[in-house]
Order: sequence, then structure tokens, then C-alpha cells
Amino acid sequence: MQTILVTGSNGLLGQKIIYALRNRVDIRCIAAARGPNRLHSKDGYIYEELDLNNPDTLEKTFEKYHPDVVIHTAAMTNVDQCESKKEEAWQSNVETVERIIEQCRVHRSHLIHLSTDFVFDGTKGPYTEEDIPNPLSYYARTKHEAELRIRLSKINAAIIRTIIIYGVVDDNSRSNVVLWTINSLQQEKDIRVINDQFRSPTLAEDLAEACVEAALRRAVGIYHVSGRELMCMLDLVKITATYFGLNEKFIQPVSSAELNQPAARPPVTGFLLDKAERDLGFRPHSFLEGLAIVKNQLKLVGYHFTS
Ligand SMILES: NC(=O)c1ccc[n+]([C@@H]2O[C@H](COP(=O)([O-])OP(=O)(O)OC[C@H]3O[C@@H](n4cnc5c(N)ncnc54)[C@H](OP(=O)(O)O)[C@@H]3O)[C@@H](O)[C@H]2O)c1
Repeated sequence: MQTILVTGSNGLLGQKIIYALRNRVDIRCIAAARGPNRLHSKDGYIYEELDLNNPDTLEKTFEKYHPDVVIHTAAMTNVDQCESKKEEAWQSNVETVERIIEQCRVHRSHLIHLSTDFVFDGTKGPYTEEDIPNPLSYYARTKHEAELRIRLSKINAAIIRTIIIYGVVDDNSRSNVVLWTINSLQQEKDIRVINDQFRSPTLAEDLAEACVEAALRRAVGIYHVSGRELMCMLDLVKITATYFGLNEKFIQPVSSAELNQPAARPPVTGFLLDKAERDLGFRPHSFLEGLAIVKNQLKLVGYHFTS
């Protein structure tokens, strides 16, 4: 039996990875997160409280479980907050990764690390794994620096870059663009949506599956993993509204310049997925299929649709 340690197990991706790994007879799955476990299902894995900013607890967790693979999903993910809290962002997204690298070296653990399309400047998407990063924001700089440190370290590791993750989270503890659209439009709230940035939305379950495959196959190198469709954020929100029968009149299109967010965002990202398809058997759902999965999950948790 192999041991797989998943950091950030309370987060959107972390939760989906635990649901993909739990109850597998060939895997001892360790879900690690700070504070109490927010997953609804508590069986089929071990929960370990782990604040990654505390080096002692990280070391102790590695000593206790000697993981064969670590899937590191935890990060400071709020892009604008990283701009205003640079020290915290560096600590969470770079120094923590440095400590995880060290522990992986000591325990000979294979690392699967999550990174982002934001390492690119967005001038020539869709991107391959060989394209040259040029991060625009502080968040992107920290994620790129972590990538560089992993590659320099020469430990066995794969870096999985992804784009705009969406899905349903236990405990409603985190939002994402699809849930935000549904919740806001249900409440007839005006929402301002960017009309000049293009992304490929990624169903959290698809990404989780790719992370598990990368772990089981001990993948090495950089992998681009996202949905296939490259679309304007405005279209993404409108498609979601239409799918859920919600009124589009509350959607206010705005340009990046008008919205003037604290952190700069790349205009066009998107990935070419050939490598993940070939090496990891990656086959993402279409965006509409993903929305159908989200709808079913929302129904299961008793979400009330007004339309
Ligand atoms: N979300 C996206 O659209 C997107 C796009 C590209 C790349 N990514 C990357 O994909 C990965 C997963 O993203 P996600 O959407 O699942 O993120 P998420 O929902 O924000 O989850 C991140 C988790 O990390 C945890 N965390 C942060 N600092 C921690 C610390 N010091 N100790 C322990 N846990 C800590 C958070 O804990 P709390 O819940 O306690 O705050 C949270 O549960 C991240 O590495 C992110 O950079 C995400």
C-alpha cells in the first residue's frame, strides 16, 4: 500500500482529491489542512491538522507518515490579497514549498505541485509547457518562484499548472466563478464581469483525477491541465446563467481597465493539453458537462433553484 499526503484538503481541489482517493484499498490517504476537517465524509482516509506555516508540524507529519507521494494543493490563492500581503504570500507560496522540497528529499517522497496559468503574461495563449513564463502579479511571481525552486531541487516532482477551477465545495467554505454567478444571479445582484480576459475553466473533479494519475504514475516535469474550451470570462458567466436559467440582465460587462483590480491579470491564457492527454490519459469534460455535474451536486446538497 502506498501513502499519499494531500495538503490543502479543505480547499476546492484538495477536497476533490480526497474524494477520489478515499476508500481505495491500495492507498493510505492522508488529508492535511489547517483547522478542523471541512469534508462531509470523514471515513476512508486519515485527517491530519497541518498549518504549513509551522515548520515543526510539517516535519512531524512527514515523520509520522513517510509519504510516498505528496500532492501539494495548499496555497494563498487570493490573487489580489497576495498583492497587498506580499510577505504572507511569499511565506505561503514559496517558503512553504521550499520546506516541502526538503522533507520530500529526506523521505524520498515524490511531489505533485499545483501551479497556475498566471505564470504567463497572457500575450500568446493557449500555452504549451515549453512556453516561457513572465508573471505579471505578485501571486504569479510566488507561484513561478516555487516552480523554479522545485525544478532546481532535482527531487522527483511534477508541476501541474491549471486555470480557473470550478466546482461544489463541502461546507460552502469557498466560492468560485460558477458558484458566484449562480448565487449572485439567484439573489438578483448585479455582477461586473470582465469582457477582455480569456480562460479555460477547469472542472475540479477533472483536475483531481489528473493529480491522482500524476501521483500514481510518478509523473515528472511540467503538465498543463485545464478544460479544453478557451472562452471570454463574460461568455463563461453568460453560459452559466443560461444553463441555470438565470437572468442575464444582472450581468454588467466591464473591461480590465474599468475594473482596475489590484493585481494585473494575463489577457489570454488557455493551455494545449497534448502532454497531459498522452502521459496522464487526461480527458476533461466539456464546460456544459461540467455545469451538469455542478447542478447535480448542488441538488444533492439541497440547493434550492429559483428558476
Ligand atoms: N482556484 C483556481 O482557479 C486556481 C487556478 C490556477 C491555479 N490554482 C492553484 O491550484 C491549487 C489549489 O487551488 P484551490 O482552488 O483548491 O485553492 P483553495 O480552494 O483556495 O484552497 C487552498 C487551500 O490552501 C489552504 N492553505 C493556505 N495556506 C495554508 C497554510 N499555511 N497551511 C495549511 N493550509 C493552507 C487553505 O486553507 P483555508 O481553507 O484554511 O484557508 C485552502 O483550504 C493552488 O495551489 C492554486 O494556486 C488555482
